[in-house]
Amino acid sequence: MQTDAATPRVRMENITKSYGAVQSLRGVDLHVMPGEVLGLVGDNGAGKSTVSKVLSGAVIPDSGSIEIDGKRVSFSDPGDARTHHIEMVYQDLSLCNTVDVAGNLFLGREPMRRICGVPVLDHRKMHHDAREMLNNLGIRIPSTKLDVENLSGGQRQAIAISRAVSFDPKVLIMDEPTAALAVAEVEAVLELVHTISERGVSVILISHRLQDLFLVCDRISVMYEGQNVADRKIGETNLEEIVDLIVGHKFSARSARALAEN
Ligand SMILES: Nc1ncnc2c1ncn2[C@@H]1O[C@H](COP(=O)(O)OP(=O)(O)OP(=O)(O)O)[C@@H](O)[C@H]1O
Ligand SMILES: [Mg+2]
Repeated sequence: MQTDAATPRVRMENITKSYGAVQSLRGVDLHVMPGEVLGLVGDNGAGKSTVSKVLSGAVIPDSGSIEIDGKRVSFSDPGDARTHHIEMVYQDLSLCNTVDVAGNLFLGREPMRRICGVPVLDHRKMHHDAREMLNNLGIRIPSTKLDVENLSGGQRQAIAISRAVSFDPKVLIMDEPTAALAVAEVEAVLELVHTISERGVSVILISHRLQDLFLVCDRISVMYEGQNVADRKIGETNLEEIVDLIVGHKFSARSARALAEN
């Protein structure tokens, strides 16, 4: 679809979501441009995972609007979001440990061939295509026949990301992709984010590791208690300011509450 360069790939406006008495999202606005890498930060419980689950169709908001390339959409499940080319890599990875690398990449859509009219799994094609997928993203894994449980955290993360990329996303959301990784593995995942965004995919990266965000993001959006509190282009801010924006609101809200209580 032809879109204006100034039309955001995603525009979420005034999104709210409550779970009983807990107001997880209190009017969140979020936008991301084609090929842009947006870092989403905030304290624990700020609502980062919830807002990303709204965009990936896993959580249905109470109110608010979502536009993709300027068109209003609504999702009732992740399948709906996938139809609009939105993919999410979850914090817990959701890979099948006892299945090999190729099997995980093609889970639920394995290539088949027929022998005497009977459909059987086409192992050779699956491993060949899996190898191509990994090479295409510059991911080094010795064999596509290794069970995922025997891989390192970074390799597992890379497979989860390649699986998401294989659905040809316009938007890829990653929730804490580097939280459990060793330094060298973090670099590989950040490199992957860079490769994917260079192809025009918009990436939303949730992370508590602020230094990682400064390496790959174009912009950082800060959330606090279910609301956006700041939005900064990466070249116009620094680590100290982002820390202040995350922590500063925490203290000002606490002192406001303390004043109100006394
Ligand atoms: N399914 C749920 N049921 C009840 N409350 C929920 C649910 N999901 C999220 N919440 C609440 O919504 C708020 C926002 O949670 P969310 O997981 O979005 O935060 P987060 O910013 O991702 O935090 P973290 O950095 O710890 O991952 C929290 O108070 C959380 O307890
Ligand atoms: Mg979270």
